[in-house]
Amino acid sequence: MAKIAVLGYGTVGSGVVEVLDTNKESIKKRAGKEIEVKSVLDLRDFPGDPIQEKIVHNIDDIINDPEIEVVVEVMGGIEPAFTFVKRALEAGKSVCTSNKALVAEHGPELLEMAKQRSLNFMFEASVGGGIPIIRPLNQSLTADEITKITGILNGTTNYILTKMDREGSSYEDTLKEAQELGYAERNPEADVEGYDACRKIAILTSLAYGSTVKFEEIRTEGISRITAADFKYAEKLGFVVKLLATSCKKDDKVYAITAPFMINSSHPLYNVNDVLNGIYIHGNVIGNVMFFGAGAGKLPTASAVVADIVDCVKHKGKNVMTVWSAKKLELGDADDEIRRFFVRVKGEPSDLAAVESAFGKVEPVTVEGINGEFGFVTEAMPEREFAQAAEKIDMIYRIRIDDTTI
Ligand code: HSE
Repeated sequence: MAKIAVLGYGTVGSGVVEVLDTNKESIKKRAGKEIEVKSVLDLRDFPGDPIQEKIVHNIDDIINDPEIEVVVEVMGGIEPAFTFVKRALEAGKSVCTSNKALVAEHGPELLEMAKQRSLNFMFEASVGGGIPIIRPLNQSLTADEITKITGILNGTTNYILTKMDREGSSYEDTLKEAQELGYAERNPEADVEGYDACRKIAILTSLAYGSTVKFEEIRTEGISRITAADFKYAEKLGFVVKLLATSCKKDDKVYAITAPFMINSSHPLYNVNDVLNGIYIHGNVIGNVMFFGAGAGKLPTASAVVADIVDCVKHKGKNVMTVWSAKKLELGDADDEIRRFFVRVKGEPSDLAAVESAFGKVEPVTVEGINGEFGFVTEAMPEREFAQAAEKIDMIYRIRIDDTTI
């Protein structure tokens, strides 16, 4: 019997308890022994719920319990999660977490602490919810040099963008609906401004290249300035708009960005809709691989956490190596990245000459019912040149284009 403790009985924590109960027998076979939740740390009490008999309010009750061999941190946020995780590792317990903020900020340090003690620090659920992506990067794609990772890594924004695309609704109305359905938080900033997706691509890129990508250094834009008009232009051009978090390696430099992109039907992530996530990886030997599924939600996220618990139990006393050093990975200059851009500009299509004198040849696009402005698509150009040209016109908005094809 392996005894574990869960820190936080919220959505994911209760999901972990439920999955361990629902699939008790098959999990026992896979882990080699039964896994029992001995304690659950939460500030609250749950009168009438069978979990109440396991609830503790003091972390010391878990840290000082020699029977507990794995601690599951599903509280979220940096503190007190970071302190609790460090104390658990110091006390000789392996840790599994779904906390992407913690992993993006302190991943290498916690991995090193686990390694020095022949323990494990696992975080499959921190990126892509239930989709296996951390383990494939660590353990399956080890023969490859990874040259590109592109993901739709945030379910809330994918839901909003999919709804806006299908129903022509406004960003504000769709966000409100996503909040009512419980997808978006009351304070939706981390999702809609791209910070959540940025941390996730920072984690994946760090794992792909073995050193630390500082998420603060990734150029990040969210979806809060996308309007129904953008989708009308996108439709006319055969595009959809997706929040992509992407990194690639070119000439020994790694570039990363999180931003809304227009993609067409040949793009691997074109059909990743609603709250689903998709991650596309290109390796120099394997070519393209795709991971697709539920990127959030109680049971999918709990599925990934429980898989980590099983791995920790199976590898008791043995560290499963993860190559991610604290050494900083210097990102290439985001202004050097070359791509096409879709642009909306004030004026009439007859003003195209002014646009072309700034951008060179462009492909104009107009939409019936949208007046006093028009759109155009540039040729591929570096971000730096685009920004200089954009200063010469009365630009309303621009969306990058990702021309990746399957
Ligand atoms: N807020 C996140 C999302 C949850 O919408 O994808 C999973 O990390």
